[in-house]
Amino acid sequence: MSLTARRLHRELPQCDHRPAPYAGPSREEILATRRAHCHPAIFTIYREPLLIVEGWMQYLYDDAGTRYLDLIAGIVTVSCGHSHPRVLARVKEQIDRLQHATTIYLHPNFPALAKRLTDKLPPGLDVVYFTNSGSEANEIAIAMARLYTGNEDVIALRNGYHGGTSGAMTLTSHSTWKFPLPPAGRVCHAVCPDPYRSPFRGTPEEIAVQSVADIRDLIRFSTPGKVAAFIAEPIQGVGGATHGAPGYLGRAYEVVREHGGVCISDEVQTGFGRTGEHFWGFENFAVTPDIVTMAKGIANGFPLAAVVTRMDIAKAFATRIHFNTYGGNPISMAAGLAVLDVIEDEGLQENARIVGGYLKEGLRALQARHRLIGDVRGMGLMLGVELVRDRNTKEPAKEETLELFEALRELRVLVGKGGFFGNVLRIKPPLCVTREDAEYAIEALDVALAGVS
Ligand SMILES: Cc1ncc(COP(=O)(O)O)c(C=O)c1O
Repeated sequence: MSLTARRLHRELPQCDHRPAPYAGPSREEILATRRAHCHPAIFTIYREPLLIVEGWMQYLYDDAGTRYLDLIAGIVTVSCGHSHPRVLARVKEQIDRLQHATTIYLHPNFPALAKRLTDKLPPGLDVVYFTNSGSEANEIAIAMARLYTGNEDVIALRNGYHGGTSGAMTLTSHSTWKFPLPPAGRVCHAVCPDPYRSPFRGTPEEIAVQSVADIRDLIRFSTPGKVAAFIAEPIQGVGGATHGAPGYLGRAYEVVREHGGVCISDEVQTGFGRTGEHFWGFENFAVTPDIVTMAKGIANGFPLAAVVTRMDIAKAFATRIHFNTYGGNPISMAAGLAVLDVIEDEGLQENARIVGGYLKEGLRALQARHRLIGDVRGMGLMLGVELVRDRNTKEPAKEETLELFEALRELRVLVGKGGFFGNVLRIKPPLCVTREDAEYAIEALDVALAGVS
């Protein structure tokens, strides 16, 4: 008997969607073809890899038609819901008319989405460059910052993730995600301001002050005294949905600007209403960046990313020809336009605030009962649960996290895993998740935790 049948008192919330019977190759056949022909760097999670063949809003279905509550949303990408009918309708309409032509011709979708995005940002952030991935967006943001300021050095944060291309990998600060290859330009990594694992002591505010002093020291001792940029995720995603230290970003931006740099907010995970209170992650910390990068939730899973900046900064990146074949693709643009409509019309940001708040409360209640939970954090539907063997030493509970991860799958709840030690459960569902889903998830986690601890 499965864990679900044995110990859970509730069922997954009702869902009217009926998945189509799956008639494709078996799990074993797919695995064998993958092993033979797909690059070994491409990995699966779970001891027995999961074959997912259909999705509907916050749910995913495997080849046997088993339904799962998806709390990781294609790695924080499916913002509106899997196969959201309005997104699909807009995309299908576009496919029937024109699939690709590039930005060398006029097309209504490309400037329309640029305008809609800039309308969502503070005045001055008026110009958009579309790319296909968050890594590319960060590459372009850094190139623009360097060209605009005439400086090379960049300050990024420890425990941050900014992508896997050469420049983005240089910005990333997890050794686990960095190949031993030459860096693409000079980047220093400042201490992450998250109080839970900060090397500094004191209140979160005191830790913020010391973390800003670390940026000043880096600029003094590791750069020529001038910098091109500071890049940070307002809440680190891959790093384990960290806390943002109160008062940190504003002071950090001041120091960087004093030294000639521009400030980049990597909103690849925190954008598009995910943090609940605000549309962009940086708004939670009352700062205005000079450049904003975004991807993932922007198009519900269609390949799209963007860099938004001021016209004066953008112009520094217009002194040579630069072209992106798929950037501005009419289909991705159609998806991006539909996503903005759905987030607005269906109140998804507000849902992230309410359901996220409810989930966080439930997770805090679990923390009071299960010693394995060292920390519960995050905003809206960007939550992290850090698991430790000992709350004083904060020894990462790596094996226990893996066990929990597997147990949750058995209970039909899919979560993400992150943090440098792989000991943080990442809960970042499609923004349409309901309170009933949250109740189910909390009970499933309670049962799974009881089994592990
Ligand atoms: C904060 C952040 N920035 C950049 C990236 C890179 O995006 P992509 O995988 O689309 O290149 C990611 C991907 O996880 C991310 O989480």
